[in-house]
Amino acid sequence: MEKRSVVRGIGHYLPERVVENAEFEKTLETSDEWIRSRSGIERRHFAAEGQTTSDMAIRAARAALDDAGLGPDDIDAIVLATSTADLTFPSAATMVQAGLGMTRGFAFDVQAVCAGFIYAMANANALILSGQAERVMVIGAETFSRIMDWTDRGTCVLFGDGAGALILEAATGAGTPADRGILSVDLNSDGRQRDILYVDGGVSTGITGHLRMQGKEVFRHAVEKLSQTAHTALEKIGLSGQDVDWLVPHQANLRIIKATAQRLQLPMERVIVTVQDHGNTSAASIPLALSVGKAQGHIKPGDLLVTEAIGGGLAWGSVVLRW
Ligand code: UT7
Repeated sequence: MEKRSVVRGIGHYLPERVVENAEFEKTLETSDEWIRSRSGIERRHFAAEGQTTSDMAIRAARAALDDAGLGPDDIDAIVLATSTADLTFPSAATMVQAGLGMTRGFAFDVQAVCAGFIYAMANANALILSGQAERVMVIGAETFSRIMDWTDRGTCVLFGDGAGALILEAATGAGTPADRGILSVDLNSDGRQRDILYVDGGVSTGITGHLRMQGKEVFRHAVEKLSQTAHTALEKIGLSGQDVDWLVPHQANLRIIKATAQRLQLPMERVIVTVQDHGNTSAASIPLALSVGKAQGHIKPGDLLVTEAIGGGLAWGSVVLRW
């Protein structure tokens, strides 16, 4: 018998405002055709004026609680992945705790940029397996629209806002890959790659700053490292691409998603793709894809899922779980 962190509920929130690619044609030398063919993105959601990461996270968390049939005080901990917390501190997670009306437990943020939700799931799993929490709300929430340079066509057309929340709870399994819940985790980072994807602001600068990216370089790392981390996580439990029901990748670029699926020998029919509607929502992209994939009837109980992501740091990783 082995303790497992199993999925109890999921939910998401997307801000109302939808911006189609064509809107960027008014202010930038770009085209719907370029954005679509280079990234697979067709539209994205942007937060309303004054709407924050914690606002969206609270809505996603409420949806996950409804899905699970739980109340806020049934949750022991909130682990929130974001690089765009409302303030330098306190954490967005404690704002969500207060917003949900949760009067017990603990909450903290995890910062691993686009890989944030993978790191947050790994943290939540460790809290559950070590007995420090029975139920953890894992959230990915971002307002990347606040850190865009609207004159940089190489980045501002790629990102979007949103939030997704997943509730994990302790259960007992047989200790085999047939168990429900998180089965394997692989985390990596390489701080030498800081200059290819970063924000040129923060506490040391006195400004919030804007996202800066060498797209081609990040692309090259992504294709290689994402398939490698997914392979590693599967190998740890004696599985391969053939065993996977759904690849739920970080939604940055359809070409990266296709290349990763191909390297895992997975047909695109077994990949959850939301990048066309959400753009790159950084740490929110995987829980958004999980929630949409479930709502569309694709992801079902018992399915084997591989999630993977890479982002600034570089930081990357993969979580294998059975839904
Ligand atoms: O979530 C974190 C991880 N991030 C990622 O995974 C993103 C990884 N990178 C990418 O997705 C791709 O590299 C991009 C979508 C950012 C760019 O695609 P690319 O095929 O690598 O294009 P490129 O950067 O090599 O640019 C090709 C051309 C350039 O023109 P020149 O130098 O060849 O004349 C760019 O200036 O396209 C130009 N370009 C644009 N043209 C029209 C760049 N952005 C745009 C634009 N509209 N928005």
